[in-house]
Amino acid sequence: MQLSQAKPLRGTITVPGDKSISHRAVMFGALAQGTTHITGFLMGEDCLSTIDCFRRMGVSIEVSDAEVVVHGVGLHGLTPPAQSLYTGNSGTTTRLLCGILAGQNFDVSLSGDASIQKRPMGRVIAPLRQMGAIIDGVNGNYCPLTIHAGTQLHGIEYTMPVASAQLKSAILLAGLYADGPTCVIEPAPSRDHTERMLRALGAQVESNGCTVRIHPLKDLQAKDIAVPADISSAAFFLVAGAIVPGSEITIQNVGINPTRTGILDVLRDMGADITMTNVRDDMEPVCDLTIRASKLHGTTIGGDLIPRLIDELPVLAVAAAFAEGETRICDAQELKVKESNRIAAMVTELTRAGADAEETEDGMIIRGGKPLHGAAFETYHDHRIAMSMAVCALGCTGESEIVNPDVVAISYPNFFDTLSALGG
Ligand code: S3P
Repeated sequence: MQLSQAKPLRGTITVPGDKSISHRAVMFGALAQGTTHITGFLMGEDCLSTIDCFRRMGVSIEVSDAEVVVHGVGLHGLTPPAQSLYTGNSGTTTRLLCGILAGQNFDVSLSGDASIQKRPMGRVIAPLRQMGAIIDGVNGNYCPLTIHAGTQLHGIEYTMPVASAQLKSAILLAGLYADGPTCVIEPAPSRDHTERMLRALGAQVESNGCTVRIHPLKDLQAKDIAVPADISSAAFFLVAGAIVPGSEITIQNVGINPTRTGILDVLRDMGADITMTNVRDDMEPVCDLTIRASKLHGTTIGGDLIPRLIDELPVLAVAAAFAEGETRICDAQELKVKESNRIAAMVTELTRAGADAEETEDGMIIRGGKPLHGAAFETYHDHRIAMSMAVCALGCTGESEIVNPDVVAISYPNFFDTLSALGG
């Protein structure tokens, strides 16, 4: 994909549906009694992996341009798949499925692509084993995993070693099948889409700061779900609009769940001009976001903010490279175990463009404001690295190239079309 320095980006766009909410809508719809109509569903490869896994366990799911319809089978209605489940590149599918499968009365194996086979699953397997699940993995803790049938799960109280919504969700989902309440304590609040959606479907889920408690129940009741646009996809246009002089972009119907809006807080702190209009709430809060280009300055990003913007750190690193002064990202070790090592990837690629970027033990330091030049950027088979470097290319002098751009289809199949439509 060839990109050149952008003229002002202007227009009103809609970005695809939220990835986290799309996965959960299919999973929880499959486990509910009744039919779920999902609008705004993200037709990205990750969410299609989730649909495929549930179809293989006997759930009828209809996909059309307008909606996804899930015919729920109830908490105990899944059937054993003929073959092992394949989760592709999707950590959310893999980890949340572990929690669900721990409660089933059949053996099932699951695995994903090369990236999934390297990502840590021990963090999910350890609490599920404490609950009574019998799980085998490669070297104990890596995919392919086999989750065995027939153990009654027990409620536990579990202090999580990392703030991770995937881990929290896996434990809460297993908790639906336990013989008593299950309680998770996070080091910092992570996204709470699981709690909100399960509550809306009738589960008893109590949240108090970093503690969440779930009670087992007989069945979930289906409810239609309108998926808001993904703030993690909007993030690329927020940064593009901020750094390309003269830009003004409005992004419609974006999810602004407070556990996801760290990007807005940080960009505003860096001097970005962002306005919210049309704020409304339907299971999840949403609004339209408008960004106008402005001068950015460096900042520090760490602590409890990290889980609120974990997926936006690559593109925030791009914003930092175009900002005046130093930006420090710390407490972000989790970035090393995402679809790629996103700290190493971003430091390498920004440096390729002439930026002053340095890797640290738990993040990176970017000394911004140096003029950047076009280059051929690698994507590490990571959708967010590809889109972040495409945004970077818009601010670089001369021509750039994104090598293996198709990887954006994991979360945003039409990313480059939208960028072109804005004048990029
Ligand atoms: C997700 C949680 C986050 C995020 C991922 C999606 C989810 O991962 O990075 O893209 O849908 O729960 P962790 O929970 O592992 O931090």
